[in-house]
Amino acid sequence: MPVVLVVDDEPLQRDIMKTILTAEGYETLTASSGQEALGIIKKFHPDVILTDLRMEGMDGIELMQSVPKLPFEPSIIIITAHGTISSAVEAVRKGAFDYLTKPLDKDTILLTLRRAIEHVRLLKENVRLRSELFEKFKIEGIVGKSAMMQKAMEIIRKVSSSSVTVLIRGESGTGKELIARAIHYNSPRSTKPFTALNCAAIPENLFESELFGYEAGAFTGAVGRKEGLFEMANGGTLFLDEIGDLPLVTQSKLLRVLQDKEIRRIGGKETKKIDVRIITATNKDMEKEIADGRFREDIYYRLKVVTIFLPPLRERLEDIPDLVDLFIKKYNQAFGRRIKSIEPAAMKALAGYNWPGNIRQIESVIERAVLMNETGVINSKDIHGELELFQLSGRPFVLDLPPEGVDLEKIEEDLINKAMERSGGVATKAAKLLGMNYKAFLYRLDKSKKVSE
Ligand SMILES: Nc1ncnc2c1ncn2[C@@H]1O[C@H](COP(=O)(O)OP(=O)(O)OP(=O)(O)O)[C@@H](O)[C@H]1O
Ligand SMILES: [Mg+2]
Repeated sequence: MPVVLVVDDEPLQRDIMKTILTAEGYETLTASSGQEALGIIKKFHPDVILTDLRMEGMDGIELMQSVPKLPFEPSIIIITAHGTISSAVEAVRKGAFDYLTKPLDKDTILLTLRRAIEHVRLLKENVRLRSELFEKFKIEGIVGKSAMMQKAMEIIRKVSSSSVTVLIRGESGTGKELIARAIHYNSPRSTKPFTALNCAAIPENLFESELFGYEAGAFTGAVGRKEGLFEMANGGTLFLDEIGDLPLVTQSKLLRVLQDKEIRRIGGKETKKIDVRIITATNKDMEKEIADGRFREDIYYRLKVVTIFLPPLRERLEDIPDLVDLFIKKYNQAFGRRIKSIEPAAMKALAGYNWPGNIRQIESVIERAVLMNETGVINSKDIHGELELFQLSGRPFVLDLPPEGVDLEKIEEDLINKAMERSGGVATKAAKLLGMNYKAFLYRLDKSKKVSE
């Protein structure tokens, strides 16, 4: 039943109104002043507020402007005496749904009220549809019925509507980038660019020009001018992945942008206002990074206004069946295959594994299984070889040290070569297989090349 609040400082007017509305089946509340009305609004969330314009203390327009921002804003109808129509029109311009002039006529009141209620109903419908859309997106894109993922989703839903800065923490392959994109594409910025920078993959001396751009002649080699990522992301979202790898000098520059909301290209004279939402992600222990002096605490606090923790897959094994389904569908489509399902024994093997590489890893196990399978139903054979291969990148890999000793450099070189081979020469992936950060990996790759030359 729609709830209507009548605000009038004349008791007789309130009573008449209440009688009319109650007779029509509306749940009717009354208040004798704007102040009293605010208390009732907070408590009962009326659908429509009928308020007199002229009242002692807070008048109708002031009341309208003080109504707290509720998820569903009530429609407001202003009631005005004959001589004050211009202020009523002004009220509509400021957001009132409509106005009524005294002397009040019952039919007009009810008609206006019905329209106002319909308006509120549509607004509510709209909010519901939007959250259904989110549900749909969630079902198609992000799997996670485990309690921990549900909690993460709840936060995602809450932060999507605003521009608050978000830090996403989680092990490698837990879906940090997927979540960052989900936040962007469910936010009012969704039609503007989502721009990403992997801080672990660019050399220290290039950060500034990547982020802020440069003018021609800013430094040797700066032939043309270049837009930085902040400018490219303007109006949208900038995703700084592996933020723990941002060098200290760049951290200070980032802090300035966060504070001033403006940037200046290298070698440029003018500053430019920018409106960019920042989302960062890391799999590092940031508290340790701070304690060891590699990350500035003041910046960290600005980045983690809201933190989303993505749990490792081994702590949410109940999500595995849905993930397997999702990836079977995905790779059926990609490879034009028609795998129908997975044998229970194979599913059990998946559920019993500890997944050091998290979702990325289970995705690639299913990808291969879909490709290799010959029967239409994935069996243990399709996945076992994969799981064994992956033990290499998992924690339980321990090498025995023979009495005569080993050639450590040779072993390192072999592993690096294997990792490069398996990742098709993509160094970032190879680094991940070896559990190393990209820079450390590049250094060793370079070293192993020199050794073998
Ligand atoms: N909850 C999920 N539902 C469905 N797919 C997921 C989910 N989480 C992650 N994925 C998929 O797993 C893969 C890895 O996810 P993503 O790249 O977002 O992880 P990440 O945390 O950024 O990893 P890294 O730390 O290695 O960069 C992607 O293909 C992504 O689509
Ligand atoms: Mg990532």
